Amino acid sequence: MKKLLIVNASKRRKGNSYTLENRIVEQLAGKAEVNTFHIGEKDVRVCLACDACKRQHTPNCIQKDDFTALIPALDSCDAMLILAPVHWDQFPAQLKALLDRTYSFMAFTQPDFSMAGRKDKKLGGYFFAGFGPVDVYTNMVETNLKSFATAGFREYKAHVAGNANVPGSILEKPEDLKAADEMIEWLLA
Ligand SMILES: Cc1cc2nc3c(=O)[nH]c(=O)nc-3n(C[C@H](O)[C@H](O)[C@H](O)COP(=O)(O)O)c2cc1C
Repeated sequence: MKKLLIVNASKRRKGNSYTLENRIVEQLAGKAEVNTFHIGEKDVRVCLACDACKRQHTPNCIQKDDFTALIPALDSCDAMLILAPVHWDQFPAQLKALLDRTYSFMAFTQPDFSMAGRKDKKLGGYFFAGFGPVDVYTNMVETNLKSFATAGFREYKAHVAGNANVPGSILEKPEDLKAADEMIEWLLA
């Protein structure tokens, strides 16, 4: 069974990221090994930019918090799905903190700049926006997803569902649900 890591960066337990997460977890029961990480309930601090990870030549970070346990999960999954809101036209701060911490996988001495054990993992970014513009946000999400290559996620796809302020409204949007189903299918192929 493929291992899917779901990183949920919303603080709204009844919001659309959680609504979609619940649907996906239900759909994948018995079909994939799903591991969820709810950043909104975790302590993932900002990168100290201390470069200690560069001196010890491992993806481990000397800062011990909830990112510590995520490092092996990031490294061993087959695919990661990020579910998140757009905040002020960008990644929400808690997700940006997580992205910054993947700097611990960066190796300046490697030809591909990566200390990741696996470099064949897929990444999906499924974002919710209250309004839009959805095309501009999709570019923003893709730009950020690209940076996860250092942690071994070399292929990525993004989708942004607009007009998503109402909690649970994703369930009434066939086009956005289809995009989610296609993303899951691609992640686990
Ligand atoms: C701090 C904050 C900033 C936001 N900024 C934007 C924004 O720039 N553009 C937008 O379309 N929606 C924005 N929103 C609305 C959320 O993206 C929207 O409600 C989204 O559906 C929330 O997803 P969730 O239900 O999974 O938490 C913002 C919401 C918050 C709380």
